[in-house]
Amino acid sequence: MSNPSLLILPGDGIGPEVMAEVHKIIDWYGAKRGLTFDVTEDLVGGCAYDAYGTPLTDETMDKAQNVDAVLLGAVGGPKYDDLDFSVKPERGLLRLRKEMDLYANLRPAQCFDALADFSSLKADVVGGLDIMIIRELTSGVYFGEPRGIHQEGNERVGVNTQRYTESEIARVARSAFELARRRNNKVCSMEKANVMESGVLWRQVVTEVHAAEYSDVELSHMYADAGAMQLTRWPKQFDVIVTDNLFGDLLSDLAAMLTGSLGMLPSASLGAPMANGRPKALYEPVHGSAPDIAGQGKANPIACILSFAMALRYSFDHGDEATRLEKAVEAVLADGLRTADLMGPDGGSPVSTAQMGDAIVKALGASL
Ligand code: IPM
Ligand code: MG
Repeated sequence: MSNPSLLILPGDGIGPEVMAEVHKIIDWYGAKRGLTFDVTEDLVGGCAYDAYGTPLTDETMDKAQNVDAVLLGAVGGPKYDDLDFSVKPERGLLRLRKEMDLYANLRPAQCFDALADFSSLKADVVGGLDIMIIRELTSGVYFGEPRGIHQEGNERVGVNTQRYTESEIARVARSAFELARRRNNKVCSMEKANVMESGVLWRQVVTEVHAAEYSDVELSHMYADAGAMQLTRWPKQFDVIVTDNLFGDLLSDLAAMLTGSLGMLPSASLGAPMANGRPKALYEPVHGSAPDIAGQGKANPIACILSFAMALRYSFDHGDEATRLEKAVEAVLADGLRTADLMGPDGGSPVSTAQMGDAIVKALGASL
């Protein structure tokens, strides 16, 4: 049987630096666990625009459609701020999500014990936190038509459209219920049914799917603004949260910060099963390209490394090896290693991106 295939798209800013550490992890799995991947690397985002005039070429899109999993670093940077909307680095990422139809975006927010004091919230509020936000990723106001900026009389008008079909809501609801069954069996669905028709439909469809197929799972509903408030008040009341594209974008950043640092959190974007039964999948850190620290060896590679752990679990059927990698990260943090983003106000001496990667590889070795 051929090796599983992995397309790596390091992207812009700190993307290539953090991805270099993932390469060390991949090499370790090849050498020590006999887990070998067919790895190809390509460009996405600003670097692809610089090389080809587009943030994602058709060739790269084609490769992404034909591998077992895609691992992406980050896209964007101030250099590209003035580009036309259609060729901005972010469009490369959005095209991947849309054309691969990756409708379920899994964003875990997990607080490592060693970092509980680092959160801006009290340690007892976040200690042991382990929640999963499922964000709908291929529809809603990010993609709805009509959109654009046009002239009306003597002023300009900006338009975006929030649009959800029943089937789009139902499939992401199913992803949430399925995942909850493998966790603590609780789903909270968030929308704004008090002001938006798309929210009313969202609530109806989630309720219907629940009644017909998942009545064993505990389901609750919350308005997204109240959800944001509850997430900061007592986040441990949640297990799985399912929400739309835009609310999911906001709530997942909020949830991420509960855990201390955006530099820690991975994500998986999953679509329908392929011929081999595995979902189409793209894995990426929740953080962005952090142009302000790019190229300085300051970036935290953990989010990207944990994204690879998610790939091991959801695309490659190696949940045991994913757990090994997560435990290695935990061990390194417990030893007190911190990248610059994890330094408290009174400082300390941070380790570099590469030192963090090396320490995780060493901890993997110690796990054998
Ligand atoms: C995210 C990011 C993206 C989004 C940007 C980079 C297009 O914020 O993945 O959360 O808004 O979806
Ligand atoms: Mg975001």
